This record gives sequence, C-alpha cells and structure tokens, in this order.
Amino acid sequence: MREEKLKLDMGAIEAVMQLPPAPVMLLAVGEQEQNVTTIGMFNVFSVDPTIVGIGIKTSRFSYKLLEESDDFSLNVPGKDLVEQVARCGYGSGSKMNKFSEIGLTPQPGKRIKSPSILECPLNIEVKKLEQVDRADWDHVWYMGKVVHTDIDQDYDRGNALVYWDGEFRTPGAVLKRI
Ligand SMILES: Cc1cc2nc3c(=O)[nH]c(=O)nc-3n(C[C@H](O)[C@H](O)[C@H](O)COP(=O)(O)O)c2cc1C
Repeated sequence: MREEKLKLDMGAIEAVMQLPPAPVMLLAVGEQEQNVTTIGMFNVFSVDPTIVGIGIKTSRFSYKLLEESDDFSLNVPGKDLVEQVARCGYGSGSKMNKFSEIGLTPQPGKRIKSPSILECPLNIEVKKLEQVDRADWDHVWYMGKVVHTDIDQDYDRGNALVYWDGEFRTPGAVLKRI
C-alpha cells in the first residue's frame, strides 16, 4: 500500500513566506535629494536585454524619489554590510540622511544621475522603462534596463546577502555545477 504524504492547506501569504531567500539590495535614487533603502522585492525580467525590476510601497520616501527620477542604482551588499542593510530598511530618508547616519558613501553614477554605493561590491545602474502600478497591489513595480555595472575584482557571490521573512543569510553551499 502506498503511503500518502501529508500536505497542509496553507494561506497564500503564509505559503509565500516559506519561499527560500533571495538577493537583498540597497536602492540608491535621486539627484538633488538622494536616498538609500533596502529592497528585497527584486527580479530579473530579461537577461538579454538585461531588464530588472524592484517593488516598492508608495509609503516609502524612495517611492517619491523614484517617481521624480529617470533612473536608480541597485547595489549588492556583501555580508560585512548586514547591519547597514538592516538599518536602511527601517529609518526613512524623509527624516534622516541615511548615507551619513548609517555610514554609506554615495558615489556619482557613471551612466545615471542617481548615485551608487561605494561600499557595495556590485553596483548596477538602471534606467527606468516600465511601471506596474495597480491600486490593489501593495507594491509598485519599476522595471528598467541595466545601462552600466561596476564590480569589485575579488567579488564573491557566496558572500552576498540573501534575505526573506526576517532572516539575513549568505547563499549556502554549491551542491552541483552544470
Ligand atoms: C530586508 C528588507 C527588505 C525590504 N524590502 C523592501 C522592498 O522590497 N520594498 C519596499 O517598499 N520596502 C522594503 N523594505 C522596507 C523599506 O526598506 C523601509 O520601509 C525603509 O524604511 C524605507 O525607507 P525610505 O522611506 O527612506 O524609502 C525592506 C526592509 C528590509 C529590512
């Protein structure tokens, strides 16, 4: 007799929270007024051309700056930046200068007006292309074309941060290479 595997019926939100962790990044945006914030809602929408997207709530100060800007940068932090990444995900740039208070250095973007972040080993410069803004969704999605990247010579993605459901980690062991 075949044994039935016991499966639980779980709500959609709870089920989504069971997903494995994904890259967490620092979004830097703005020209005159600049801000940095933590972003976990990230996706690659096309590899060639390289189109990436981020989801942001309209309550964020960064949303206002994204609306006013043509571009933004996504900065991939190493594990050494875990404290700074957590802090950028709580304070709001509407009340403080997160760069100076948290100790991150904005550097001029090479092909965008928004800055990138010196301390992050991978900087991805993005020009806005499309926006998905549905009143009944909790995040607005900005999709854009990657127009420039800078990467540290000794970059190791095994030391990049991943995040989900309150837990920061590094990616873990390689099980197989194909
Ligand atoms: C790990 C982590 C990931 C987050 N990801 C997102 C995200 O993808 N989209 C979003 O709108 N807020 C996200 N947040 C929350 C914002 O970073 C947070 O509300 C921040 O204070 C907004 O700052 P701002 O008002 O300066 O833009 C995240 C927070 C943390 C700690």
